[in-house]
Order: sequence, then C-alpha cells, then structure tokens
Amino acid sequence: MLLTGHTGFKGAWLALWLCSLGAEVHGLASGEPTSPCLYELARVGEGVSEQRLDIRDADAVRAAIARVEPEIVLHLAAQPLVRRSLRDPAMTYAVNVMGTVNVLEAVRCAGEQVRAFVVVTSDKCYENDGRAQRRFVEGDPLGGHDPYSSSKACAELVTAAYRDSFFDREGAPGVASARAGNVIGGGDWGEDRLVADSVRAVQTHGALRIRNPNAVRPWQHVLNPLSGYLRLAQALHGGEDVARAWNFGPPAADARTVGWIASRLAELWEGALDVELDKDANPPEAPHLELDSSAAEQQLGWRCRWDLDRALGLVVEWHRAHLDGEDMRAVSLAQIERFEQSA
Ligand SMILES: NC(=O)c1ccc[n+]([C@@H]2O[C@H](COP(=O)([O-])OP(=O)(O)OC[C@H]3O[C@@H](n4cnc5c(N)ncnc54)[C@H](O)[C@@H]3O)[C@@H](O)[C@H]2O)c1
Repeated sequence: MLLTGHTGFKGAWLALWLCSLGAEVHGLASGEPTSPCLYELARVGEGVSEQRLDIRDADAVRAAIARVEPEIVLHLAAQPLVRRSLRDPAMTYAVNVMGTVNVLEAVRCAGEQVRAFVVVTSDKCYENDGRAQRRFVEGDPLGGHDPYSSSKACAELVTAAYRDSFFDREGAPGVASARAGNVIGGGDWGEDRLVADSVRAVQTHGALRIRNPNAVRPWQHVLNPLSGYLRLAQALHGGEDVARAWNFGPPAADARTVGWIASRLAELWEGALDVELDKDANPPEAPHLELDSSAAEQQLGWRCRWDLDRALGLVVEWHRAHLDGEDMRAVSLAQIERFEQSA
C-alpha cells in the first residue's frame, strides 16, 4: 500500500493504523509539516518504508510508484491551509492540482497492479456562498473562493477526468475521491487550525484567539474519515461499483460553531485555556459548511463512530499525555484500538 503525505497529521494517523493492521506501508512525502508533529512523536517512520520527494516532480513520483508496485494508493499529500494558499496560490495549485495529476499519471503508467486509488480532497471543494443552510451532497457544484478550496475542486475534476478517460475499463484501477470535513485529533500542530491553536495556547500559557466564532463547520475525529478512506479502498480493491466521489462527514448534531468548540475545549482543559476574539481583519470564510454522508452510510456501510464531544475529549487526553511525557506511539495506538472496538 502506498500513502502520500504519511508525515502529515492525517497521514501519520493513517500510517500508524495501517501498520497496526499488519499492512505493508510505503510513504511518500516532502517532509514533516510542523515541529512538533505526530509523525515524530509517534515514531511513524518505524513501521513504514519511506521516501522523501516533492509530488510536483512528475518523474520522481512515477519512479517511486513503479518501484513500490502498490496495490492500493491513498493520496493525501497536499498544501492543506487556506491562509497559506492566499499567501502562495501558485504553489498551492502546483502541489494540489499538478501533484494530483502526477500521482494519477504514475498510476496510469504503472500497469494493472494498482487495484484501488483514493484521492483525498476536502469538504471545501463545493461552491459555497454561505447562504445554503443545507448539507452538501456529492452531486452539488464544485467551486471554492480561495485558492486552497478551488485547488481541491480542481483535484476533484482532474480525478474524474482521469477516471472517465483512462480507468473506466476492465482491469483498470478503481479511482475514487473522498471529501471530509474539519478533522481534529491529537498531534495536530497545523497553522491556523482551531484545535491546534488551542494546544499552542495551552503550551505557551497564551490565549486561543478565534476569528469567526459563528462559523459552522462539520467537525469530526480524524479516525472517522480515515475509516471511510479505508472502507473505500477496500471496496475499490474488491471490485465494488464505488469509483466516484464520497462525502465523509459527521451527523448534523456535530456541525458546531467555532465559538462552541472553543468554549468546550476551555471546559475540557479545566482552566488551562483562555479564549479571546481575534479582532484583526481576517480573510472572509464561508459562514456555514455541512456534508451529507448518507451515500457513504448506505452504500459503503460507513458511519461516524466517535461523536464530537468524544473527539474533543480524546484530543485533550492525547495532549495531556504529551505534556506528561508519555510514549505517544503507545497513546496513539491505544486510541486507534479504542476506535476499532467502538465499531
Ligand atoms: N486537516 C483537515 O482538517 C483536512 C480537512 C479536509 C481535507 N484535508 C486534506 O487531507 C490531506 C491531509 O491533510 P493534513 O491535515 O494531514 O495535512 P498536513 O499539512 O498535516 O500534511 C501534509 C502532508 O503532505 C505532504 N506534502 C506537502 N507538500 C508536498 C509536496 N509538494 N510533495 C510531497 N509531499 C508534500 C507533507 O510532507 C505532509 O506529509 C490533505 O489533502 C488535505 O487537503 C485535511
């Protein structure tokens, strides 16, 4: 199995999980996105054969996939931050769009040993003027007002075009995309992410500054969508008719405002987290975003196993363990085991 972006927040959780299941995991990534990061703390590299490369380098990506000969490819590597995409739009498109093209090309050239290919995009790929107070379904128009969101919509279009042009035939790999919402979990130190900012505030005894307290997002524990990616890869590998786009989002009750999440985190940190409103001018963000995941629930048998309150509790538990100097590989694997037991 080949995983791009295995040093990132989601990729590190996924690599750990796959290794715990006994999978042979090959990772491709350009480096660690933050310091500290889950990849280092949970010693993810121990169970993974890995290569550092830039997915903008088409030849390197093609050579890596030809060498590994994976049966399953999960593509997570990306520039995943909205505000960084506003600072560096060209790089964001190059990594998120051409990087995806390069991985698709490498799979196209790899012959028939690849059976399943999952491209991870985002819930932000939908055209969202913020007025729709309804949940997006997979057939809704794609869009994106900022470079990150639109790059993920582009990645969706590129994936669909490759599927229709090159993979829609007997013996070709099944190609699907996965759109998941704001994921939270232990070990995320990503820039401008609410939960990561809260952890930094606790560690530095500063305050968590929130930008859009009324913005609603589909928050969920990172293991929820990862279980969807795995189920999707399994279904594609088994030849099921699932080669298309899928939403993996939480139930409506877990679409909460930024302000609600900040207050709940402050409660869970029991006085160690102060919250204040960021009054600086910030780029506009869609006030409302929710996904309808009924298709994944009904046709893939997927469900969101951990609700938001449990997810927030587990984030704080993970970071308390880190502050207490515990073995974070063991702590992370124990959380994965609890997730599996809640099936
Ligand atoms: N975290 C979220 O809330 C969220 C929500 C929706 C979608 N996503 C998507 O999930 C995926 C993983 O996100 P994440 O939060 O783990 O991101 P992250 O920043 O923690 O990790 C990004 C990974 O991509 C790799 N990468 C970045 N640029 C690269 C390049 N040019 N060449 C090779 N590797 C490169 C990094 O080395 C790292 O392994 C991304 O596709 C992201 O868009 C994330």
